[in-house]
Amino acid sequence: MLIFNKKSDLSAFLSPLIKQNKSIGFVPTMGALHQGHLSLLEKSLSENDVTVMSIFVNPTQFNNAEDLDKYPRTLDRDVQIMQDLSNNIIVYAPEVVDIYEGNTISESFNYDGLENQMEGKHRPGHFDGVGTIVKRLFEIVQPNKAYFGEKDFQQLQIVKKLVSKYNIPVEVNGCQIHREANGLAMSSRNERLSESAREKAAIIYHILNSAKEIFQTNSAEETIKFVENEFKKHPEFELEYFEIADEATLLPVLEKESNKKYRGFIAIFIENIRLIDNISLN
Ligand code: PAJ
Repeated sequence: MLIFNKKSDLSAFLSPLIKQNKSIGFVPTMGALHQGHLSLLEKSLSENDVTVMSIFVNPTQFNNAEDLDKYPRTLDRDVQIMQDLSNNIIVYAPEVVDIYEGNTISESFNYDGLENQMEGKHRPGHFDGVGTIVKRLFEIVQPNKAYFGEKDFQQLQIVKKLVSKYNIPVEVNGCQIHREANGLAMSSRNERLSESAREKAAIIYHILNSAKEIFQTNSAEETIKFVENEFKKHPEFELEYFEIADEATLLPVLEKESNKKYRGFIAIFIENIRLIDNISLN
């Protein structure tokens, strides 16, 4: 397994492969790898000649300094996990300076309004940071295909928009959410939860599934009320939002329309850790 810390070294390695028309698959991550990340890697390994995974905790997408500070960094363990999966993974694990060259300021992006909903509303500047890093990583790696999880569904839609607006020749693939046996969506942030909070957090997926059932015969407003009331019964949780949105526009649903795909999106705190999840509703 090859590990590069400098973009110049990575580019020097990749450019002959690109010239030979080898297909490059790319999985960007912030490390603290779990099975969700590995499912994206496996997909890339099966569909491409070369797979690159980046591990970089991107400072510009954190709107909260404490969250950035506390984000788990476990590079040695991550490398071991990848080695156990395959010897064919190319890792790019840069320092901040290699990406930002001393200027950690985001570019501003217009994603046709996708950035104004949910995570965009609650984490100001977050999607400018995501756009900045993903665009730079795409320029460095020049992948044919890139893999993103539906766990961050809004991010996936935003990356698709970024690629189409900037004519970046990358096929963006969405991959389904990997969950713990109890239903909790896998996340690097789960590592910061106590054992008991991890168990309690199973209720998030449980309530999302109940919401899906209720949405079949009730309005979005009634379904949202249901979710809010359920979490009121569990004071260890602090619900930031539960929204039902059109998958394509991410706009909140007012009237259900039979030709549209809807998803429920949640952001919730337990033990001061912010968790997000989502579920397809129809
Ligand atoms: P990170 O949170 O490390 O996630 C990396 C990729 O793994 C993302 O595409 C995310 O959606 C996916 N992922 C995370 N948990 C998953 C799960 N349980 N099931 C399936 N996929 C999952 O998302 C980021 O990093 C960053 O914003 C990044 C895109 C790397 C830009 O900095």
